[in-house]
Amino acid sequence: MRTFPVCTMVLIDAGASEDFVEGEKKVVDANGDRVLLTRFEGKVYALHGKCTHQGADLGIAGKVTGRVLHCRMHGANWDIVTGDKLAHAGATDLKTFKVEESNGRVLVEM
Ligand code: FES
Repeated sequence: MRTFPVCTMVLIDAGASEDFVEGEKKVVDANGDRVLLTRFEGKVYALHGKCTHQGADLGIAGKVTGRVLHCRMHGANWDIVTGDKLAHAGATDLKTFKVEESNGRVLVEM
């Protein structure tokens, strides 16, 4: 039997580091997912860009306040760093993606 190394990780170039401003959000379509990125305390974080309640596009309905991402549709809140749900019984945690900055670019591991 032959075996093959399996590597499913893909690095997505989400843009120039300078375009990721503290407290602002940016959404990219990457590898079939909508991904919301924001810089908090100097570090860029990436979360799934669809609300886990009723699927609102967080690029439109999402609002970043400090460490909290808020969905304006019905009030779900998440921790930007962990993706943990902070409020709203109908929502669940948001998937997070690992981010690295290299040579002035923001790379998302998917
Ligand atoms: S769709 Fe986001 S809280 Fe309902």
